[in-house]
Amino acid sequence: MSEAVDRLFVHCRQLVTLADGPATGPRRGAAMRALGVVEDGAIAVREGRIVAVGTTDELVARYRAPEELDLSGFVVVPGFVDCHTHPAFAATREREFHMRCAGADYMAIAQAGGGILSSMRAVREASVEALAERTTEHLWGFLEHGTTTIEAKSGYGLSLEDEQKSLQAIAQAADLVPLTVRRTFLGAHEFPPEYRDRRDDYVRLICEQMIPSLAPLADSCDVFAEPGVFDLAQSERVLQAAKDAGMRLRVHADEIQPMGGTELAVRLGADSADHLGRISDAGISALAASDTVGVLLPGTIFFLGKPHYAPARRMIEAGCAVALATDFNPGSCHTQSMTLIHSIACTQMKMSFEECLVASTINAAFSLQLDHEVGTLHEGKRCDLCVLDIPSVEALGYTLGGNPVAMTIKNGVPIVANISDREPDWFADGVVLDGEQ
Ligand code: NIG
Ligand code: FE
Repeated sequence: MSEAVDRLFVHCRQLVTLADGPATGPRRGAAMRALGVVEDGAIAVREGRIVAVGTTDELVARYRAPEELDLSGFVVVPGFVDCHTHPAFAATREREFHMRCAGADYMAIAQAGGGILSSMRAVREASVEALAERTTEHLWGFLEHGTTTIEAKSGYGLSLEDEQKSLQAIAQAADLVPLTVRRTFLGAHEFPPEYRDRRDDYVRLICEQMIPSLAPLADSCDVFAEPGVFDLAQSERVLQAAKDAGMRLRVHADEIQPMGGTELAVRLGADSADHLGRISDAGISALAASDTVGVLLPGTIFFLGKPHYAPARRMIEAGCAVALATDFNPGSCHTQSMTLIHSIACTQMKMSFEECLVASTINAAFSLQLDHEVGTLHEGKRCDLCVLDIPSVEALGYTLGGNPVAMTIKNGVPIVANISDREPDWFADGVVLDGEQ
């Protein structure tokens, strides 16, 4: 007698489970290259969770379902986990992108009204409803690119009320979009103009007012630890105040100049140290000996037209837990495409396609403390899938640009589809398309 489930996905050309390794915890070194590929794979789903994975023959013999979706011709991987994004912005900044391409430096862009402070002005002018609407559009963009879980930062408000508005906008958007969202408070993203000449007062405002009142709205606190922005002492004060308030920690560290932000993140037990384009040898050693995940954002280096990609190979060989993320934001990386990030990671940081997949699924999930829920296709986890229109999993990274994501499945339900020719056969009654739920 076969067992009843809600839905069966069958005939995946390749089903990449990542289930050869443990269900939880970060993957390091050679373990980043073990994928677990099932040819002609299938997944059984009940109440949004994975009941079993195996070959189609095995699962069809063991399970019966009112709905069977045929994924023949597609490569199916765990839904991507984007563990570093800034989606709560109200306006794009294409003008400064082109100024930078034409050779303008950071100061010239700031003087022309660009940079983080231009996003701050737009957020301050927006109502919470308008910001939530914009953020909702941004969250749909992740699903369209195969991402089923994100971390979303505030950081363009830079005042108590505007940071609160940003975190509320993220929460409202997350309620409307079938995406798992972790919220991060990033009041320490830049110094707002009213505090330009009294920076320590802004740090005090963050520690004494923003963190106590905004901690309930966010899972984590992040700081842009960089010379000229939050120095090491200021960063530590913010992070320590957040830790004391029960928040988890993340750090924008060693992006443009090495400052020891990575070592600080490790010392404070942060979940992640992010960017790392200028990480030092001491930073790599500290990271490798810790559970702090090194979140690499090569799209940002690419978008800014800079040469210093993070030393991914040295970090992986040293045993660091490495993740990849988009850094989606209006200023330094305007993409929600994880597959584009894979291409940049392969070509510029010499990561293998296997490492890219592990870095953008289970390792990213671990950095968000969601590894027990998502990141691999182990039994019991949420059935979050990215269905790729590529000939084999080896084509990850190889397919440059465009969107190879044919369909995104969240909690066992197809949510968005980017192809037309097979759709009529694919979607049985009751299956949600494009958020009509
Ligand atoms: O992660 N590094 C700091 N913050 C963002 C950029 C934000 C912006 O330019 O709007 C980043 O790249
Ligand atoms: Fe960032």
